[in-house]
Amino acid sequence: MRKLVLITGASAGIGEAFAKTYAMNGYDLIVSARREDRLVALAHSLSESYGVDVSVATADLSRPDAPLDLLNRIEARGRPLDAVVNNAGFGLPGTFVETSWEDQRDFLQLMLTTPTEICHRVLPGMQARGFGRIINVASLVSFLPGSKGHTLYGPVKSALMKLSESLNEETAGTGVHVTAVCPGLTYSEFHDVNGQRERVSELPDYMWQKADEVAEAGFEAVEANRPVVVTGGVNKAIAALAHVLPDPVARAAMRQQSRYVRD
Ligand SMILES: NC(=O)c1ccc[n+]([C@@H]2O[C@H](COP(=O)([O-])OP(=O)(O)OC[C@H]3O[C@@H](n4cnc5c(N)ncnc54)[C@H](OP(=O)(O)O)[C@@H]3O)[C@@H](O)[C@H]2O)c1
Repeated sequence: MRKLVLITGASAGIGEAFAKTYAMNGYDLIVSARREDRLVALAHSLSESYGVDVSVATADLSRPDAPLDLLNRIEARGRPLDAVVNNAGFGLPGTFVETSWEDQRDFLQLMLTTPTEICHRVLPGMQARGFGRIINVASLVSFLPGSKGHTLYGPVKSALMKLSESLNEETAGTGVHVTAVCPGLTYSEFHDVNGQRERVSELPDYMWQKADEVAEAGFEAVEANRPVVVTGGVNKAIAALAHVLPDPVARAAMRQQSRYVRD
């Protein structure tokens, strides 16, 4: 029997690449996002190319009731989840007070509460069955100082990284692996959605990764049970540098760069 993975945010970018990677590795899939047409096209293409079963489960994961509703719908199909990739996300431009509380609240729900709830709900079953894989898509910014604009993005991604580290410790020896995948700049729709495509396109090619490279590195890392993986050589170097730089210097460097990737 093939294993079953749920991938959130599978209608584009890194999530779509994760769907391809898991299909290539013989998993059946449940692909989730809001855009059903995209998911249906992806499901057809992956089933045809890799001979796996792919089901579509649309959900707006910024709604507080969405994670439980999604997991209930999956449970009703009668197969437990062997793996989850918590990937759905976006960047909310603007400074903290320029942005409405309702937008910040929905952002926190999608980016932190939803993946945390999904982890909490799937882990007991995975541990009881002695097998599970959870990837939380965090970011290189998990390692970097806070900066102006996209105010909650860094805090949320840092929290997801720490959550993954803690869960990796708590599941040790149970057959369950939990990994935070930390990409840097990645070609996807992310910078179209947050309106920064023009500015980020000024950044050099060597700073960018393809979504497929991120997904493959993430899959390998969770199989190897690594709590955290930074994808790509340049991003690894930046994360390492952030560990050793004095805080004021790191903050100044972040301030300089954030005009491209933040506001
Ligand atoms: N691209 C980068 O440079 C980069 C770097 C570091 C980390 N990341 C992280 O990587 C993850 C994937 O981003 P990406 O770069 O692949 O961006 P993307 O191409 O814009 O894809 C984002 C995905 O999230 C889904 N999504 C957004 N809001 C949703 C909602 N309310 N409910 C359900 N699904 C929702 C979108 O689907 P629908 O619109 O169809 O709902 C889409 O499938 C995010 O967590 C992001 O923070 C990206």
